Amino acid sequence: MAKPRVFVTRQIFSEAIDAVAQVADVQVWQDELPPPRDELLGKVRGVDGLLCLLTDKIDAKLMEVAGPQLKVISQIAVGYENIEVAEATKRGIPVGYTPDVLTKTTADAAFALMMVAARRLAEGWKAVQDGKWQTWHPLHYLGQDVHGSTLGIVGMGRIGLEMAKRARGFDMDVIYCDLIRRDEDEARYVMKYVDLDTLLREADFITLHTNLTDDTYHLIGEEALAKMKPTAVLVNTSRGPVVDMKALYLALRDGWFTAAALDVTEPEPIPMDDPLLTLVNCVIVPHIASASVATRRGMSLLAAENLLKGLRGEKLTTCVNPEVFGA
Ligand code: DGY
Repeated sequence: MAKPRVFVTRQIFSEAIDAVAQVADVQVWQDELPPPRDELLGKVRGVDGLLCLLTDKIDAKLMEVAGPQLKVISQIAVGYENIEVAEATKRGIPVGYTPDVLTKTTADAAFALMMVAARRLAEGWKAVQDGKWQTWHPLHYLGQDVHGSTLGIVGMGRIGLEMAKRARGFDMDVIYCDLIRRDEDEARYVMKYVDLDTLLREADFITLHTNLTDDTYHLIGEEALAKMKPTAVLVNTSRGPVVDMKALYLALRDGWFTAAALDVTEPEPIPMDDPLLTLVNCVIVPHIASASVATRRGMSLLAAENLLKGLRGEKLTTCVNPEVFGA
């Protein structure tokens, strides 16, 4: 019997590819950059399984071109706004994703970004590189203390909760807002549920952990930014479009609040002429919050596991649309 065909849209950990290659004919896109749309459409034609990334647009057209034999779409990411899940569900195609394995690593990075922006560490590092370190000065590079401050968490999902845990070690007060109030966790991790307005006004550090939806698109725009404390620091490791980048630039430029640290931007990569890149109080890194060796390995293996289960017609370990498997 012919082996199923699988297309993998980027190189991932080789163990994951090897596992899939034991049962399927696998083709892996070798370039650093995502396959251009035409190439992607060409590559998915006739495949039984697709392992994709958040930079690939997986829409109705692609599923149509792939053909009715397509059994599974396995995304290597916890976010999946690049995939038309409703369309996949309509076609009975399970969509896998990789939650949990990246939760702590992403929270570590968000916390690190918070520290970097609060204490102006990137600015200091740049000054050293540029030969501008001349002396110890009592008034140079003064930042904000993280310990003992108030952390505001927008979106109390898995990663938000890990932030709350980390905050305890820094004697921070934690406030959060979410669509769902988490009474049990509140008691356990000593945190308080507030509305977004209160959070924006009271938090010293605001960290975003929401999904990107119609409701969260530009959630942090001019109006929200104007409510923040002048000493506040904003951290975004969720999705770029949750923040209105133009409003963010003006607010940071005009000193509405102190600093921002972004792992994600709109668009990605950030264009080199984006004015945010001219500000010393805005640290930007290239969407790497989950990029530890162990976590990216875990994500690769989980994505492969989901793919293999889908090829066998089994329930995926972590599935966005489990309803395709029936009750
Ligand atoms: C995700 O998984 O959605 C992240 O943005 C990348 O790890």
